[in-house]
Amino acid sequence: MTCPNISWACLLLLLCFASMGDAVYMKYKDPKQPTNTRIKDLISRMTLAEKIGQMTQIERLEASADVMKKYFIGSVLSGGGSVPAPQATPAIWVNMVNEFQKGSLSTRLGIPMIYGIDAVHGNNNVYNATLFPHNVGLGATRDPDLIRRIGEATALEVRATGIPYTFAPCIAVCRDPRWGRCYESYSEDHRVVQQMTDIILGLQGEIPMNHTKGVPYIAGKDKVAACAKHYVGDGGTHSGINENNTIVDEHGLLGIHMPPYYDSIIKGVATVMVSYSSLNGVKMHANHDLVTGYLKSKLHFRGFVISDWQGIDRITSPSGSNYTYSVQAGINAGIDMVMVPFNYIDYINDVTYLVKKGIINMSRIDDAVRRILRVKFTMGLFENPLADLSFADQLGKKEHRELAREAVRKSLVLLKNGNSPNQQFLPLPKKARSILVAGSHASNLGYQCGGWSVQWMGGSGNITTGTTILDAIKSTVADSTHVVHTENPDENFMKSNDFSFAIVVVGEPPYAETLGDNAELTILEPGTDTIQTVCSAAKCAVVIISGRPVVIEPYLPLMEALVAAWLPGTEGQGVADVLFGDYGFTGKLPRTWFKSVDQLPMNVGDPHYDPLFPFGFGLTINSSQPGFSASAADRLRDGNERIVYVVLSLVLSVILICFGHGHI
Ligand code: BGC
Ligand code: BGC
Repeated sequence: MTCPNISWACLLLLLCFASMGDAVYMKYKDPKQPTNTRIKDLISRMTLAEKIGQMTQIERLEASADVMKKYFIGSVLSGGGSVPAPQATPAIWVNMVNEFQKGSLSTRLGIPMIYGIDAVHGNNNVYNATLFPHNVGLGATRDPDLIRRIGEATALEVRATGIPYTFAPCIAVCRDPRWGRCYESYSEDHRVVQQMTDIILGLQGEIPMNHTKGVPYIAGKDKVAACAKHYVGDGGTHSGINENNTIVDEHGLLGIHMPPYYDSIIKGVATVMVSYSSLNGVKMHANHDLVTGYLKSKLHFRGFVISDWQGIDRITSPSGSNYTYSVQAGINAGIDMVMVPFNYIDYINDVTYLVKKGIINMSRIDDAVRRILRVKFTMGLFENPLADLSFADQLGKKEHRELAREAVRKSLVLLKNGNSPNQQFLPLPKKARSILVAGSHASNLGYQCGGWSVQWMGGSGNITTGTTILDAIKSTVADSTHVVHTENPDENFMKSNDFSFAIVVVGEPPYAETLGDNAELTILEPGTDTIQTVCSAAKCAVVIISGRPVVIEPYLPLMEALVAAWLPGTEGQGVADVLFGDYGFTGKLPRTWFKSVDQLPMNVGDPHYDPLFPFGFGLTINSSQPGFSASAADRLRDGNERIVYVVLSLVLSVILICFGHGHI
């Protein structure tokens, strides 16, 4: 008989498989399998608890290897300013991320978690990172190639901390500068915002030709998953009130706020974050038509949709007052991953309950998990779940700071230069007897970085490594030029000094989100006093550090020159590079500059358009004028130099004439 032999063989085979344990072939673990095959295989193995875990993002303060393991948590984030230690090094970051990751990898299926952070102008929570100008400044550059390179550098600095995912770019089209997040928006014009979505190609990598539209793309270990936010209409809220209601018809929605999403999706953006705001009275976090109907079904977006921080809680008012309903409305609207970020046990219990009751369908859960796994597989997270220190030296490195400095130069917008075209004041001469640098923002790194810099709200003073504008000026002028720095000089001080000229650097204090909402838009006191005192006594150039246009019209006649420098970030040298003529001014206003706040909202194309400086405005330096190369400016403005110049020219002419004669 052959039968007993066969059973023996079967048994042996079984024993063999059993002893192989982990080595059993599982399709989802095989990188050679197509992504969809891997997703299908993995989903078929997952329990409901494992699926809900994937849909959960918690704050790092809540996370530990045990929590990751016990609840199958799919993602962890750093909120604004949430760091493993003050001034944490890349090694501290990498260890923290890996610690959580090891918890995830120790689960039955070993699905890696994805760690996310706001890197909205460089890896901004991280000490020593390069901080680029905030988006409003980048919008002024109109330079998509620059923006792509900033994306590349940011990806490397995020990877330096062991992190593979960032909640950027913000592609809001800010229609009212009273909004506290206006600086996170590249422009009031959707076309500029659309151009700037090239940052996604830098963050995630250049999308291959013939890549299926809507499918996320992340090139590899030196890239990060990006997030287009906040979907949709965040920049259009009534009176610029944060998280408020955007009242807009279909034409306005599809014509103004939606276009940057088309570009982001075509460029392979991995994730989209939902906006806190409402659209015509409907909370976006509960908006099935726009999240599922439009974004997923119509635009074929195949990455995952993430909620904002406690975004589902805020579906109800007061926030969190009916959390079970929030979970139901948010997930059924089409949110795939919820940024919980604290009360994850309630969240998990509620999702579980709602699925068991049939209020959330299993198909909805599977759709969410499929999308999350697609991003994780695409970016190679299963193959490379643990970070190492190989990118550590990318943080704040010289090349990135040079790039940020270039971005600062290109972001500056020259709004006034002298009182007539043939009496230009800028560029300033590097050689002068004595110059004054004044204003609250001249020597304050925190102020020039703005919100979302080390802390959520930003900070004052030496918050990280960088170059203040004062230091930049000092290292730009000639050794013989005496630089005097006083924040807010009084009249007597001005009278008792005779300055060749003054530079006044003033602006807004740092802020983020709702705390930045402001109906007045005046600069930080005593900024206007400083302008008045200094500019009445000396010829002065005013540099404004702000996230948006501010009230400036009343002071304009006092100043010789006015420069909008936005929120330049850590590389203040870029400001001095242009003020002193080593580079020209090329920036163009990304926003309309109002005369007075009662004109707001006022955007280009509006019937009541009557700006102080229109959208797209930006003077250049007329190089046909004498003195508009730096060296020429120096010579012409310095009396002694001028004499030397004339004498030298004469001597040279004489030599030439003699030389010429000798040869005739
Ligand atoms: C902001 C998001 C941010 C998230 C995580 C929210 O308050 O609206 O833009 O990505 O927090 O920090
Ligand atoms: C921010 C977080 C921040 C938190 C602080 C949120 O709105 O988005 O990033 O850490 O508030 O409470």
